[in-house]
Amino acid sequence: MIKVGNIIEVCVEKAVYGGDGLCYFGDDKFVVFVENSVVMDKLRVEIVSLNKRFARGKIIEIVKPSPYRIKPFCPLYNACGSCQAQEYDYDFLLEQKRNVLTDIFKNLVDESKIYSVIKSPQTKCYRHKIQYPAKQTKNSKRILLGYFKKKSHNLTNIKFCPVQPDIINVIAEYIRKNFPFECYSEETSKGLLKNVLFRINSSLSEISIVFVLNIQKEGFKIFKKSFEKFGLNLADDFKEIKGVFVNFNPKNTNTILSDSTLKVAGCDYILEHLEDKCYKLGATSFFQINPLCAVKVFNIVKENIQKNSNILDAFGGVGAIGIWACDKAKKITLIEQNENAVEMAKENFEINRVSNYEILSGDAKKYFLNFQKEKRIFDCTILDPPRSGCEKEGLESIAKISKKIIYVSCNPQTLKRDIEYLIKENFKVKFIQGVDLFPYTYHIESVCVLERQI
Ligand SMILES: C[S@@+](CC[C@H](N)C(=O)[O-])C[C@H]1O[C@@H](n2cnc3c(N)ncnc32)[C@H](O)[C@@H]1O
Repeated sequence: MIKVGNIIEVCVEKAVYGGDGLCYFGDDKFVVFVENSVVMDKLRVEIVSLNKRFARGKIIEIVKPSPYRIKPFCPLYNACGSCQAQEYDYDFLLEQKRNVLTDIFKNLVDESKIYSVIKSPQTKCYRHKIQYPAKQTKNSKRILLGYFKKKSHNLTNIKFCPVQPDIINVIAEYIRKNFPFECYSEETSKGLLKNVLFRINSSLSEISIVFVLNIQKEGFKIFKKSFEKFGLNLADDFKEIKGVFVNFNPKNTNTILSDSTLKVAGCDYILEHLEDKCYKLGATSFFQINPLCAVKVFNIVKENIQKNSNILDAFGGVGAIGIWACDKAKKITLIEQNENAVEMAKENFEINRVSNYEILSGDAKKYFLNFQKEKRIFDCTILDPPRSGCEKEGLESIAKISKKIIYVSCNPQTLKRDIEYLIKENFKVKFIQGVDLFPYTYHIESVCVLERQI
């Protein structure tokens, strides 16, 4: 029986969702998970925690590296928690992501229907939405912007990040040097600046910045003038900055943004051009962080919709997928809760000259129930919910009102739970297609097409 502190030798058999390598130890094949390992590594690991079902080990020595182990390309990889799996050869990592999907959907979806994960067109510089927590050093009061180290709130100051456009590194440095107020401290709950959010379009020509503040909107009066000056200076110094915003979030939670946002300089949106479509993106409305790869997701959805369909784009955001698929639509009905996204969606349908649309603002579940009561049936329902997936109550109605469902998911575990339910409701999975929207992380985006059996 192994104990915490033991040093053992293991081989990494497979990767699991979350990024760890799974190893077996001893004749009874006791499971040991190892961080920062690569499938086929032979390792000496120290057992750092243990329960009845599995242990966790920390690498002490790489006895024989996997042939797919490479040197992480980012110098801050070990100090920063925002990427994982940089020790993997990219193509091999995609194979592992497909294996992870196969494991998760075992006994539910035939392996042949789980397709290989599609590559991201860019594996560096792919992140177009960046969320940096802010902190200040105790003595010198230097501002730090970066990412928390894995499983901690220790902030690593990120001066260079290869997975985001370099202009963001430059603007972040300007903010560190010139931001006129104190940063928030988790220890004292005092200080103003909690986070800085950047959104940049795929051609790198337009940027919006949101400063998340530890105050209510009413308390902003005394800071307003200085912020406006700072915002204008930023926009003067960087021609790409189109809008500067503040968001008021004095609550001590893990949710970065509150519902209360105010523009302090510039324009309400940035423009994103993807192929022949154009999207206005509000500072706080959702849009995929890897837009060039998101096109691959949008195309899979469009290819699987029949011409002249009545489409329900539930969780529609600023209209990204609905607008992409508009040629296939008799009518598109979009539902979205975020007010800013609803405003942008309206404008986006107009600027893309889509006329056969309807936008419903508010909680999707309420509308699903109404459609069910009205016996309104959709040829195709696009579901693209947050990580938590669809609520059971909503899903019950979706199953009744949809002939086909195209489920776009960033969390294979909640996707599994939801399609398990849909299969019971007489839907059949046509395929699951992984798309690597988040290169060098454990995250997997999937598109699952389900058809109702008659
Ligand atoms: C993963 S995003 C997808 C957005 C869009 N389909 C896209 O590709 O850009 C999920 C969206 O669902 C919205 N949302 C979350 N919960 C919701 C709810 N209960 N009802 C309606 N919309 C919701 C969010 O504001 C967000 O815009």
